[in-house]
Amino acid sequence: MTDTTKSLCDFLDASPTPYHAADNIKAYLAAHGAIQLDERDAWNLEPGAAYFVTRGSSAVVAFRPGLRPFGAEGFIMAGAHTDSPCLKIRRGAERAARSMLRIAVEVYGGAILSGWLDRPLALAGRVFLRGEGGLRELLYSSGRPVGVIPNLPIHLNREINKGIEYNPHQHLPVLVETAGIDTKAAAAAQAGGAGDGDSWLARLAAADLGVSPEAVAALDLSFVDAQGAVAFGRDGAGELVNSPRLDDLAGCHAILEAFGAALPTSRTQAACFLDAEEVGSMTAQGADSSFVRDMLARINLSMNGTAEDFYRAVPRSLCVSVDGAQAWNPAYPEKFDEGFSPLLGKGPAVKMNANQRYATDALTADRFAETCRCAGVPFQTYMSRADIQPGTTIGPISSSRLGVRTIDVGHPLLAMHAIRETIEGSDHRAMIGALKEFFKEAQAS
Ligand code: CO
Repeated sequence: MTDTTKSLCDFLDASPTPYHAADNIKAYLAAHGAIQLDERDAWNLEPGAAYFVTRGSSAVVAFRPGLRPFGAEGFIMAGAHTDSPCLKIRRGAERAARSMLRIAVEVYGGAILSGWLDRPLALAGRVFLRGEGGLRELLYSSGRPVGVIPNLPIHLNREINKGIEYNPHQHLPVLVETAGIDTKAAAAAQAGGAGDGDSWLARLAAADLGVSPEAVAALDLSFVDAQGAVAFGRDGAGELVNSPRLDDLAGCHAILEAFGAALPTSRTQAACFLDAEEVGSMTAQGADSSFVRDMLARINLSMNGTAEDFYRAVPRSLCVSVDGAQAWNPAYPEKFDEGFSPLLGKGPAVKMNANQRYATDALTADRFAETCRCAGVPFQTYMSRADIQPGTTIGPISSSRLGVRTIDVGHPLLAMHAIRETIEGSDHRAMIGALKEFFKEAQAS
């Protein structure tokens, strides 16, 4: 395994939820000398120093104010998302049937459900404890399997290999206990009659965290794949990385590495790690929020810029949005336009779509191609077939929110939104190389 792949796998394993991802991003930035700021404080920024701000515990914006005035130079920024499809636990989630206990879930984002069946699942998220000054938030990860969603045996559904429709309410509650269940307590919890502290989940999390279950005021937990990232195949070219959450933690990791290594330039640099992309980005810490715009406006103000300076900066600026790109899959060639379907191992893909599911236009595509050439990395172009609408990403949303020219790019990725996805290690290294070059560029136009 190359060092870059090892670093990516460690980041994936340590980031089972967007809260963990944001925490790891903050730790990385702090270790690289960046200073944490609070939105509630007054800021006094130094040109060329690195800073970061979090919102909602699951999103981070990092930036390095430019050495020249904001209005004259604009900003250069890269963005990715911290969230991935998963099974979120409902309130009053416990479902007892005979001696068996299941935990009810809601599907977060557009998950491919079949992969979640018959697989060891772990729990992760946030636990809120009652304390002196109100609620205290702790990150939690069980770090071991605690549940499974069993399929029917083929003998009871001979048609199962023809495809099966899973009803999330009925079929996806996760089996966590098979004996000794207090069905009355579980029924009370389900009816909302018990606080989170009385629940099986609270007792598990409290025991793992070394606190009393009574101290647990609320839970924000999800089931996640209990198996970590794996890399296999040849070292270097041909090395495959198979992991949960590659969409879009691979994008976050690439931006983090590039921003961490960047030196100050005349222009302000920003790295945005936003939540809620998988559910439309419309939260206080998603791309469809004021977060990034607020940060840029405050950088300008702190550098003594005027309102007009902000409006001068925007058209001088450029954004790259990094998210997975559908890689060509030889089992389903009919689903791809062969000339524009990225291959694993051939470099980052620039994503284009006439209906603006991706923000790239001819000018910005050419711009990123030049960046890749300067960085000495290969690149490809992704367009879906004309009869298939692709997914979308934060690019068009942040572009319309900010008014900034944007390029959508991504790692060629197999099985997007499956519980485990696959990329190639060399594409990740190429993406980091391209983003390092992107941050170096002193002028956007
Ligand atoms: Co994505």
